Amino acid sequence: MSESEQDYTRHLVDLRRHMWMAGIEVELRRLIWQIAVMGKYISAKIQESNRKLAGFKNVYGEEQLALDRIADEILKNKLQQSGFVKEYASEERESVVNVGQGKEQYIVTADPLDGSSLVDTNLAIGTIIGIHKSSVFDCGRNSMVAALYMTYGPLITMIYAAGKGAHEFVLDREGEYVLSEENIKLKDKGSIFSPGGLRKDWPDAHLQFIEKLEHDGYKLRYSGGFVPDINQVIIKRGGLFTYPALKKSPQGKLRLLFELQPMAFIMEQAGGRATDGRKDILDVKVTQVNQCSPVYIGSASEVTLAGNFLSA
Ligand code: AHG
Ligand code: MN
Ligand code: MN
Repeated sequence: MSESEQDYTRHLVDLRRHMWMAGIEVELRRLIWQIAVMGKYISAKIQESNRKLAGFKNVYGEEQLALDRIADEILKNKLQQSGFVKEYASEERESVVNVGQGKEQYIVTADPLDGSSLVDTNLAIGTIIGIHKSSVFDCGRNSMVAALYMTYGPLITMIYAAGKGAHEFVLDREGEYVLSEENIKLKDKGSIFSPGGLRKDWPDAHLQFIEKLEHDGYKLRYSGGFVPDINQVIIKRGGLFTYPALKKSPQGKLRLLFELQPMAFIMEQAGGRATDGRKDILDVKVTQVNQCSPVYIGSASEVTLAGNFLSA
């Protein structure tokens, strides 16, 4: 190794070191690291897959890719061996399952594969994880201690938040998660928006809000994958993602426990906001595993503006 290469590696901060320096509690940082490693296994399965549909439906009646189930099994099996997790809740399962002896500290929630309908298109997809210290049947603000997500795109990246800011890591060629963006902070206002649902199904107040963003020159960025769409808002330091209440489904589409709470946790740690249009997502109480909620998430100014339109 040349002198300049040594210099370079000396300055790399890996995930474990970062969490240790940030003062995150030992079991939590071990768990986050274990889950980040699980992302490597999931991504390997994505690479191996031939993009075929498994041909059965999940609890939401959606056609499921075999990859969803594989990712879910990887997470469940590895969490079972982790030693820190007592319960596991997944979008792919109808109820919370025991994976420990009962004395472990943590409960893990997962959307094992987010954006599964994009697998065949070769767009980015991801895994979303929430870590709770008490029952998930509470509001996130009371129960959550950390959240993370992996994005499987041209690069594999991971953003975690455990109460000490939001930080991004990139998986390098040696298979190590290396710090790429520390203490990500969104600007008060961005310039991109990702609106889910069909315009004809939007309630009037939501339509007016979106028309205001369009009028103000916001650029459309919607891939159909929550992870890459949120990641874009975070990495570009602002903007808005919304999946609103729809005329025929007032709770919208996205799942509180598996998608919205973890992203809201990370977004708040990055200085942004996440609401259901009125209330902070982290203040909404979860009463059912598959509970959905409308969402407005991103930089503070846009989320607040959405609230103004919805309450007018
Ligand atoms: P999943 O692949 O985990 O079922 O999630 C799909 C979600 C989310 O990723 C995305 O934001 C949303 O569905 C897209 O919905 P539309 O196809 O209605 O735009
Ligand atoms: Mn999803
Ligand atoms: Mn999913």
